[in-house]
Amino acid sequence: MMFSRKELNLVYGGTAILLFLAVVSYAAFPNQAPKQPLRIAFQSVAGKVIFDHSRHHLEAGYGLACGECHHTLAPDEYAQAGSCTECHAVEEGDEDMPNRADAFHQQCIGCHREYDAGPIDCAECHVMQ
Ligand code: HEC
Ligand code: HEC
Ligand code: HEC
Ligand code: HEC
Repeated sequence: MMFSRKELNLVYGGTAILLFLAVVSYAAFPNQAPKQPLRIAFQSVAGKVIFDHSRHHLEAGYGLACGECHHTLAPDEYAQAGSCTECHAVEEGDEDMPNRADAFHQQCIGCHREYDAGPIDCAECHVMQ
């Protein structure tokens, strides 16, 4: 097949515009996940727990990978992260498949121990109010 010069220019022009848009979108939305929470206030019978979500994953914070917590996701799925409750039921659980509160305690405290940083005592996380 042959292309006239004009048709080719159109094709190149279109590609250049798409490339430009791609670069602009990439620069404007670097981690492609605009709906991530900033901070989460968990309510529990033992009092409120404040979790600074963005400080945990931003480079300027602790720089943790999404997958360290959203542990079933591959890197190209991070933007679709959902609630732990999708899999960890609020009530029922066992050793292999902990319920929601046990899953949090194991993951949050487990990592704080591993890094030897972050709260491990009840009252450091649970604020009575
Ligand atoms: C230190 C652990 C941790 C890291 C790191 C982390 N998250 Fe989360 N994220 C959580 C927890 C805990 C929740 C709340 C889950 C719940 O309420 O059941 C959450 C909630 C979310 C939600 C909202 C889910 C909903 O309830 O609809 C999104 C979206 C999300 N995270 C995306 C990300 C992305 C993207 C990254 C990486 C850039 C990331 N998270 C890094 C722990 C983490
Ligand atoms: C898509 C389903 C799914 C989601 C969402 C999920 N988990 Fe899990 N989780 C599992 C399964 C299945 C297991 C048991 C097998 C395993 O270890 O992978 C598990 C095990 C665990 C364990 C115990 C064993 C281990 O691997 O350390 C912890 C702690 C845990 N999850 C925490 C969390 C937290 C916290 C969240 C939310 C940030 C979360 N999970 C979100 C499916 C899920
Ligand atoms: C994968 C590792 C990891 C997980 C999982 C994790 N943290 Fe942390 N957390 C850290 C690190 C690292 C620090 C930094 C401590 C420091 O530098 O003093 C920290 C600090 C904190 C602090 C004190 C400073 C601040 O940012 O507010 C709180 C509170 C905290 N974490 C709550 C939580 C809660 C609640 C969860 C579970 C929902 C959780 N963390 C899960 C690694 C983790
Ligand atoms: C690293 C932070 C952290 C530490 C340390 C911690 N917790 Fe929690 N705790 C949480 C989070 C997060 C939840 C889940 C809230 C939710 O389900 O939304 C929770 C939930 C609970 C619940 C509610 C359980 C349920 O079934 O509803 C109780 C009770 C509790 N914690 C007691 C404790 C006690 C006792 C200690 C000390 C031995 C402790 N926690 C240490 C973060 C922490």
